Amino acid sequence: EKAGYEHFMIKEIFEEPKVIKDTINPRIKDGKISLDSINLTSEDLEKIEKIYIVACGTAYHAGVAGKYLIEKLARIPVEVDVASEFRYRDPIISDKNLVIIISQSGETLDTLFALREAKKKGARVLSIVNVVGSSIARESNDVLYTWAGPEIAVASTKAYNTQLSALYLIALDFAMKKGRIDEEFYKRIIEELRNIPKAIESILENKEIIQKFASEHYNAKSIFFIGRGFDYALSMEGSLKLKEISYIHSEAYAGGELKHGTIALIEEGTLVICPMTQDDLMEKMISNIREVKARGATVLAIAKESNKQAEKAADVVFTIPDVDSLVAPIVAVTPLQLFAYYMAVQKGCDVDKPRNLAKSVTVE
Ligand code: M6R
Repeated sequence: EKAGYEHFMIKEIFEEPKVIKDTINPRIKDGKISLDSINLTSEDLEKIEKIYIVACGTAYHAGVAGKYLIEKLARIPVEVDVASEFRYRDPIISDKNLVIIISQSGETLDTLFALREAKKKGARVLSIVNVVGSSIARESNDVLYTWAGPEIAVASTKAYNTQLSALYLIALDFAMKKGRIDEEFYKRIIEELRNIPKAIESILENKEIIQKFASEHYNAKSIFFIGRGFDYALSMEGSLKLKEISYIHSEAYAGGELKHGTIALIEEGTLVICPMTQDDLMEKMISNIREVKARGATVLAIAKESNKQAEKAADVVFTIPDVDSLVAPIVAVTPLQLFAYYMAVQKGCDVDKPRNLAKSVTVE
């Protein structure tokens, strides 16, 4: 069943190019995005004052990137929340809201109850779900399936890349329908999306670099992830992945927030991982790297091939192909998943079945 791989997790990471293709390609017809049977017209979108994205864990982290994306492209305000908070805070929702629910399993109880709460208050619910016919899929008004296939490892990997892919399709479609982007940009980003599987393949070919880095750092007691913009969302996901399977303490911080307290924890030899894929935030990120390096940190950057500044600032750089900054999150998460995986393998952890965790959380 593992098809020659040592664990389901690494098998599933290697499936990413294919499942991203399966999620994106059938939704592009004659150069235009077509979201299956979801029929949100321009008029429907005009009525939506705010979008809520609700999910748990990794799906929530996809939602954080989704917020940045939808706001950037479609200019609709988006609030993103973890389901267990959302459902108990009497959220202000009406028929002027669209609620996007994200769930791999489609069975996470808090997420399902958040969906019911949203529907009860009159919102339209669009869910991004992987398991066909699951409870969340059945109870939503609209479903956009991620075609990630079965995900066995408790740590979610390929599902996250496909959740992001689905959010890109939604954001681009909404932006076009609202007249916020022009045809040329729309076409260019669709092309970028189509090229993502190739970019991930080249990352997978270089996996030894991360494997080697992990073999040198698996004794770390605490690891920080810092990033800005989309890279902040990625940092959260990289940190969760590392925690859940390697049991190493880790925190994710927005680059600019570090100096408001957490930087006190950086000392000689502390490992700091910096995804830095956003061209417009590069200068700011470089100064964050300088701040932590001045306190003795060892920095691993995840940066685009052509980024010469990253090479100078960080101790080690793992390069990703030169994709557009807008689509970089779908590509740059893969090295973070590989990092968590090799750290856990080095430590001899039960990668596919980490302690205290279940694949599908159907308790409150
Ligand atoms: O099935 P769901 O996407 O609703 O699951 C949500 C979380 O339980 C899940 O993403 C969890 O955080 C993973 N173990 C993360 O790797």
